[in-house]
Amino acid sequence: MTIAELPLTDLDFEPESRGLEALRAWVADIAALTEPDSVEWCDGSLVEGDRLTKLLVAEGKLIRLNPEWRPNSFLARTDPGDVARVEDRTYICSTDEADAGPTNNWRAPAEMRAELRGVFEGSMRGRTMYVVPFSMGPLGGPISQLGVQVTDSAYVAVSLGMMTRVSSGVLDLIDAGQPWVATVHSVGYPLTDARDRQRDDVAWPCNETKYIVQFPESREIWSYGSGYGGNAILAKKCFALRIASVMARDEGWLAEHMLIVKVTSPEGKAYHVAAAFPSACGKTNLAMLRPSIPGWTVETIGDDIAWLRQGPDGRLRAINPEAGFFGVAPGTGPGTNATAVDTLWGNTIFTNVALRDDGDVWWEGLSEEPPAHLIDWRGEDWTPESGRPAAHPNSRFTVSAAQCPAIADDWDAFDGVPIDAILFGGRRATNVPLVAQARDWKHGVFLGATISSEQTAAAEGTVGELRRDPFAMLPFCGYNMADYWGHWLRMGDKLGSNAPAVFQVNWFRKGEGGSYLWPGFAENARVIEWIVRRVEGSLGAMDAPIGRLPIPGDLNVDGLDLPTADVDALFAVDRASWLAECDLTEEFFARFGTRVPPALRAELASLRYHLRA
Ligand code: OXD
Ligand code: MN
Repeated sequence: MTIAELPLTDLDFEPESRGLEALRAWVADIAALTEPDSVEWCDGSLVEGDRLTKLLVAEGKLIRLNPEWRPNSFLARTDPGDVARVEDRTYICSTDEADAGPTNNWRAPAEMRAELRGVFEGSMRGRTMYVVPFSMGPLGGPISQLGVQVTDSAYVAVSLGMMTRVSSGVLDLIDAGQPWVATVHSVGYPLTDARDRQRDDVAWPCNETKYIVQFPESREIWSYGSGYGGNAILAKKCFALRIASVMARDEGWLAEHMLIVKVTSPEGKAYHVAAAFPSACGKTNLAMLRPSIPGWTVETIGDDIAWLRQGPDGRLRAINPEAGFFGVAPGTGPGTNATAVDTLWGNTIFTNVALRDDGDVWWEGLSEEPPAHLIDWRGEDWTPESGRPAAHPNSRFTVSAAQCPAIADDWDAFDGVPIDAILFGGRRATNVPLVAQARDWKHGVFLGATISSEQTAAAEGTVGELRRDPFAMLPFCGYNMADYWGHWLRMGDKLGSNAPAVFQVNWFRKGEGGSYLWPGFAENARVIEWIVRRVEGSLGAMDAPIGRLPIPGDLNVDGLDLPTADVDALFAVDRASWLAECDLTEEFFARFGTRVPPALRAELASLRYHLRA
């Protein structure tokens, strides 16, 4: 069989029958296509992690940080062209274009497979192909799923070992017939060409041409040309959101871009809250919140992704499918997220932050005073006078969740935690109040579907531009977004009176002078307090056209020194600008044609009616 005849893994057997033999055959197919020098099966052990990081240091791909300051920690510097998720090179290849919907880039599966064959052919020459079997969620858990990633990057294999549960136990479950998601990754920088001509490796191999491709029907992911985070750690955005959202639609659960926290009130009662925010809007900060108000504690369960399923008791239960944090470094400091700073004491891989002269790391926001001299993320000398950031705005840390001092005891509970409240947030300078409660589940789905937010550096694009980001899933929903809203509505029907309460929050509203009205960070606990009291039923609320707002005086602002005018401004509803926003929502819905659920059009009509009343 020639390469051209090899199936580009049409895994043409049912997911249920993907046993170990099928896995071995698939690995052999990928190896025949990509032609690595060798194939290594990973087991996620500490010994393996140590061996791979030593190899990466020897190859000049990782810098070992000074162990006195940051034991067992490393710095990677990417190619300057490989620093964020590439949404314009991300594809959903469903058979029917309408199933991908207007918010995804669609390509016909057969056409894309042919194109991928072209780029993957021989793409691993001269390299080792790592086979990494992983579990998303506790191994064998009722909400968990299995996957296997092959990759020609040891950096990615090590990162996967921190971000997921890699173990040979996964192979036992696959052998027992459990389904698994197949993911293939190549940095697209072979060291030998078809005529055996060699070239040297570089510190960050990648390719100018990039593909991040999801085949939702066969539950496959193919990623080419990038070594960066969400483009390369395929368990994260590609599997746990894009592919999992399709699995969730088909199987009646939810795969969401949400953090999860456990909140304990001064009375000692525990609540679990899940919250969706667009990328780089402070999810990790909220996940690791240290409340400013006495008696309240917040513990971390997850900072990016939640999988939610109705449990045997009828309630919605959630797991964090990941096992690590891939957080944005800039802005993480003692005042904004002291817990994250403590989490990163060691055993951490930093990417694109700055290197201190003493062999430790630094980024904007880690301390008020920058060091007098640094090596910046590009490897160049930097001083505070350089006039450019020392760390890339999307620089990251990768660290195990278990290392977080605020991790909740139930963070890896086998069957998840019961969810009491769901929050939808965005970065909005105007209109959206600090907090509002949805009137019911349908209204909550409307709030989620109409989130808009100012763009951040997590993806390529114009920072600051307002974009619609429904459910914070715009770049992550693996199927037609309007069908996804319909799925949320159906989940509400199924959950009935067990459905969690839904809220909208916005920490980023600005006053007339352009400065933030709300102090944010630790003070966000005050908003959580109001939310918990609403869930308990111990506080009332005021009906407004956009939802239920705190009764004046109910939001705890004691000791905040916040002028009453600012509190009023945080909740002000400007009817004219809300009506203008309704027009934009209508235009946005129009993009989805008749697939928009009638219940959401009814919510829009009702909002307009109440704004005009
Ligand atoms: C992330 C993102 O990295 O949302 O979590 O971009
Ligand atoms: Mn995210």
